[in-house]
Amino acid sequence: MNGRGLLLLCLFLSAALTPPRQLAVAGAASSSKVVTSLPGFQGQLPFHLETGYVEVDEENGTELFYYFVESEAGAHNAPFLLWLTGGDRCSVLSGLALEIGPFQFVAEPYNGTVPRLQINPYSWTKVANVLFVDTPVGAGFSFSRRPEGYHVGEVSTSLQLHELLIKWFTDHPEFLANPLYIGGDSLAGQLVPFIAQKISEGIEAGRSPILNLKGYLVGNPGTGENIDISSRVPYAHGLGIISDQLYETILGHCQGEDYMNPRNTLCAQSLGTFNNLRSEVMVAQILLDNCVYASPRPGIETDKSAGAARKILSEEAVIVTGKRVKHPPPRVPLGCISYTAYLSYFWANDELTRDALGIKDGTVDEWVRCHDGDLPYAVDIGSSIKYHRNVTVNGYRALVYR
Ligand SMILES: *[C@@H]1O[C@H](CO)[C@@H](O)[C@H](O)[C@H]1NC(C)=O
Ligand SMILES: *[C@@H]1O[C@H](CO)[C@@H](O)[C@H](O)[C@H]1NC(C)=O
Ligand SMILES: *[C@@H]1O[C@H](CO)[C@@H](O)[C@H](O)[C@H]1NC(C)=O
Repeated sequence: MNGRGLLLLCLFLSAALTPPRQLAVAGAASSSKVVTSLPGFQGQLPFHLETGYVEVDEENGTELFYYFVESEAGAHNAPFLLWLTGGDRCSVLSGLALEIGPFQFVAEPYNGTVPRLQINPYSWTKVANVLFVDTPVGAGFSFSRRPEGYHVGEVSTSLQLHELLIKWFTDHPEFLANPLYIGGDSLAGQLVPFIAQKISEGIEAGRSPILNLKGYLVGNPGTGENIDISSRVPYAHGLGIISDQLYETILGHCQGEDYMNPRNTLCAQSLGTFNNLRSEVMVAQILLDNCVYASPRPGIETDKSAGAARKILSEEAVIVTGKRVKHPPPRVPLGCISYTAYLSYFWANDELTRDALGIKDGTVDEWVRCHDGDLPYAVDIGSSIKYHRNVTVNGYRALVYR
């Protein structure tokens, strides 16, 4: 796991049904589908869900996949939120079904049938229209027809999201007047103020349609500054996870050091000790069990928790169902908060789910909840602090929370 991945630690049939409704709108190659029921959910969905794709790079054939949920408080008066999940390239289904969206997985043992869904009583869609987007391209169900399309970075991804909003609102003008907010956490939180900056520049330049941007919100955002990593030390000390002695040793030897690549040997040693201690706790919430990170792919096993993952794997065989189930995540214990993340993999790779969501054939073969550095991503925004400053100085609202 790379340093930025550590920072984030985001917690964590083939029946051709009706084809997605194709909307042909000039200048906006988009397709969308109203979804009224989902595998694992009993009956009709009690909220309005639309899924679809927006093409954001014609040259490379890049299409970003979205889930749009209308506010239950009356779609036309409610705020409109673009929501992005962190990384590395974690699918926005994490934000939707594991955090803030209207449905969630029932935490029960996976037995080979599609995981069941239930209503999330605390969904943000009670009060807001939320557009959840799989981004950067390669995350979730977003894809590019040409391999070059996956060579994106923070800047190009932000510009693609601006493009996506322009096209989405062109197709859905009834939402243009709603107050617009941009939101995201961890790695996405690094992009959010920059996206807000680009939108505000578009508004000033009169780019049509005019977006009604009001502000943004970021949870555990990366800033692109050294402090994203170095602040772990005083934070862990404050929580009583490390001793006064280790704390002082690190502070003494790591002055002015890059905490990801320290040059001073004593600093590197003490940070090594620190990272070993840190790996013993659930970083996102130290009172929870330290469960394995429920994301597939072998690269993740460089983390210390991989030992636990292998132990679990050797004790319980993973149930493999379906042709897309190629890299199932480690099976976590049922009591772990990441168990539902484990279930998400089987739900999203089920053919019935793909049909219900309108996933295009031949695009994403295997859905993974997060990637781990297997696709390129240029870190090219640098510090996002200047964008936070500029956008808020220009009168937009901001909420930064942990
Ligand atoms: C799996 O569990 C679900 C939910 O508890 C149950 O409805 C289903 O019959 C079970 N399937 C099998 C194959 O055991
Ligand atoms: C297509 O991908 C290439 C390689 O990443 C990139 O340089 C180019 O800008 C992309 N095209 C567009 C229209 O974004
Ligand atoms: C600050 O925002 C304004 C208005 O959007 C823009 O014109 C200007 O270039 C921005 N400055 C920086 C340093 O980003």
